[in-house]
Amino acid sequence: MRKLTNILVTGGAGFIGCNFIRFILEKAEGFSGRVINLDALTYAGNSMSLADIEAKHKTRYFFEHGDICDRAFVESLFSKYEIDTVAHFAAESHVDRSILGPEAFVKTNVMGTFTLLDVARNAWKDEKLKQGALFHHISTDEVYGSLGETGYFTEKTPYDPRSPYSASKAASDHLAMAYSHTYGLPVTLSNCSNNYGPYQFPEKLIPLMILNMLEGKPLPVYGDGKNIRDWLYVEDHNAAVWEIMRNGKAGEEYNIGGENEWENIKLLNVLIDITAEKAKLAPAKIRDTITYVKDRPGHDRRYAIDCSKIKRELGWKQTVSFEEGLARTVDWYLANPKWIESIRSGEYQRWVEKNYGERG
Ligand code: NAD
Ligand code: TYD
Repeated sequence: MRKLTNILVTGGAGFIGCNFIRFILEKAEGFSGRVINLDALTYAGNSMSLADIEAKHKTRYFFEHGDICDRAFVESLFSKYEIDTVAHFAAESHVDRSILGPEAFVKTNVMGTFTLLDVARNAWKDEKLKQGALFHHISTDEVYGSLGETGYFTEKTPYDPRSPYSASKAASDHLAMAYSHTYGLPVTLSNCSNNYGPYQFPEKLIPLMILNMLEGKPLPVYGDGKNIRDWLYVEDHNAAVWEIMRNGKAGEEYNIGGENEWENIKLLNVLIDITAEKAKLAPAKIRDTITYVKDRPGHDRRYAIDCSKIKRELGWKQTVSFEEGLARTVDWYLANPKWIESIRSGEYQRWVEKNYGERG
């Protein structure tokens, strides 16, 4: 088992990253080291998400505001905190935004990942490598392209990205593995299916639908609503990442998934029932607000992950059922109006109005 001491988490103010930091500081066994959260606080980052953690773990948690593309700043963090581990979550992460403005995706996802890899390569000399330094790169199943009605993505499925988002993530995955093969940098890589849970920015399907239901807004379903995604509760994803970081083999890729496929429209109907019950709303009235809208250009039809490798080799498995995970998620959004307000009052509001009209 690797001893991880000073972990640089990038994108720790975003959805999965903030849940990851919470998980390793408060739940995961066997970690007594420090966490350094490097985040640029783009529209998707929110320092409120970890305000309680910052107050509680003053000697173990440090926030550093900055850009992963800023080489000098990243270098300074490696030496200031003697970084021996990177958990790289930071990214531009939304497909729709990548269609409207791909440049930020190339900058952060490709150039930012390159910068981090290259700084790690230069910083980690013999001693750190002997002590078990590790660069874990977090990626998505979307790099594999789109499936028909059958089949699953395995670690051997050829990459076939179709959106600017997935193309930029594919490029970053290739760079990460190239640094492993070429320079012997200890790299692990994980490709995960769609996550959901607390602190997710309300431009992604599940939180967007929950908030629109609570506000009586239309529920925009793209195309025929029959696109399929494989959903995983965020804490199960983070437990898998943590398992790979501690026990995964350097140079290896691991697929992570929920084994939980849902057509968007079927998922929405389940979510309506849960939200209506918890918020004391009439489900039939909410159903009337379902609005089929123009499809996303190049919309991938189906994603489904074969995660047998991580189950077999590292003993990871999903622990939160979809019903339980959705119930926890709705409860969280109902209990956190201040967090929602902080997100919805800023740039998000303007961006949605400008680009989507009544959709958001
Ligand atoms: P998110 O958009 O919620 O958060 C991204 C975070 O990165 C934000 O805090 C943002 O401020 C930060 N960031 C963006 N650009 C930056 C830069 N240049 N420098 C420093 N920080 C920057 O994303 P998420 O949903 O938490 O996704 C995290 C990672 O997981 C991403 O790499 C994404 O590709 C991957 N992933 C996400 C999902 C999913 O369903 N959300 C599924 C599989 C993989
Ligand atoms: P999203 O949460 O954007 O994740 P991804 O595109 O990375 O899988 O979308 C999930 C699915 O839901 C996808 O098929 C697109 C669809 N969708 C809608 O139908 N309406 C919406 O408002 C959004 C945001 C997504």
